[in-house]
Amino acid sequence: MSRFRKVVLIGMLAAACGTVWAQKLPPGLGRVATPDEVKAWDIDVRPDFKGLPPGSGSVDKGLEVWEAKCASCHGVFGESNEVFQPIVGGTTAADIKAGRVKGLVAGEGRTTLMKVATLSTLWDYINRAMPWNAPKSLTTEEVYAVTAYILHLGDILPGDFVLSDQNIREVQNRMPNRYGMTTNHGMWLPTGKPDVRNTACMKNCAVDEAKVASYLPEFARDAHGNLLQQNRPVGPVRGVDTTQPPGTRPTSSSAAAAVVAAAPAATAGGSVLELATAQACTACHGVNNKIVGPGFTEIAAKYKGRADAEAYLAEKIRAGGSGVWGAVPMPPQAQLKDDDVKALARWIAAGAK
Ligand code: HEC
Ligand code: HEC
Repeated sequence: MSRFRKVVLIGMLAAACGTVWAQKLPPGLGRVATPDEVKAWDIDVRPDFKGLPPGSGSVDKGLEVWEAKCASCHGVFGESNEVFQPIVGGTTAADIKAGRVKGLVAGEGRTTLMKVATLSTLWDYINRAMPWNAPKSLTTEEVYAVTAYILHLGDILPGDFVLSDQNIREVQNRMPNRYGMTTNHGMWLPTGKPDVRNTACMKNCAVDEAKVASYLPEFARDAHGNLLQQNRPVGPVRGVDTTQPPGTRPTSSSAAAAVVAAAPAATAGGSVLELATAQACTACHGVNNKIVGPGFTEIAAKYKGRADAEAYLAEKIRAGGSGVWGAVPMPPQAQLKDDDVKALARWIAAGAK
């Protein structure tokens, strides 16, 4: 290609790709994001619904989405307290009318529908973060539908409702806690009332040691596995080692060790673990520890010596189930190929090594 044509072509490409490509970054700083990359990240929906994609979804369709993708963790009626606090409950017809949730003021538990003031927040959160084991996997219709279904569970919408970008503003006017949000504080306005007070002091200052006033009760400490193992080994140490007594501070090295223990082994047998990770099994199962469901080695131990363990586990992986390890159900894994189901079952039965 002649030099001239090359230059013209590059010029045309730059013009076609818009202005961002024309920007130059200093060397060593990567490259400017493409318009498509920016579009993929730019998904926030604001309180005035700016950013909400056009579309709609019915309560009926939301029921299907809920049962297939949400109920295993949040309960059939959004009432479960197992994995997270309940989504639904604690709101009344009077609250919907008043726009303030009475139970919240009275301190009776806190469900999502009691707290959330802006419907955009609910839509946006589900769209970007749920289901927990497969975020951003829902279609726009599914997000509208499942949001409508949650609102139906809270008696905010009737069962034949179709939620859409056209009517969402009217539905906002029925949110039980729509007047419950305040912006009159220091987190919002620099002139607002701060949450904490600090006295300016330059010398001989009284040092107040921070005191922890309460801990999780003993029986609940380790209920969802070692929280430390579920944190990333970067930055300051986050999370507590729930296998240790309250007040024991994890060191950065014990945090790193815990994470390595929980992480996929990069050895020969690692490929089935990679499959389990790619299929999001590991969002709910640690190799050794319980997260939402039991650790894989715990499952192996339970069925050790059982002749048909592999076939039994394969069927459980395919069809899901509940009641063997607790109340939280395992959702069916219909997306898995037969060979993958078998490989996973064989690997788990053999001790997940
Ligand atoms: C594997 C378990 C799991 C599944 C499946 C799941 N969630 Fe969640 N969900 C969670 C957890 C854990 C949190 C809390 C996350 C956090 O605070 O970081 C949460 C939080 C939420 C919240 C925010 C609650 C609040 O008050 O902050 C909503 C709304 C929600 N989920 C909706 C859904 C919907 C809708 C689905 C199905 C499309 C779904 N979830 C599927 C585990 C799950
Ligand atoms: C949303 C969370 C979740 C996901 C995702 C998940 N599981 Fe489970 N799994 C569970 C729960 C909860 C149980 C316990 C069910 C019970 O008590 O019967 C369980 C149980 C199991 C069992 C034991 C069944 C028994 O009867 O003892 C196996 C095996 C299993 N899961 C494998 C997998 C595999 C493989 C994947 C990925 C393809 C997977 N799970 C994905 C939550 C999950």
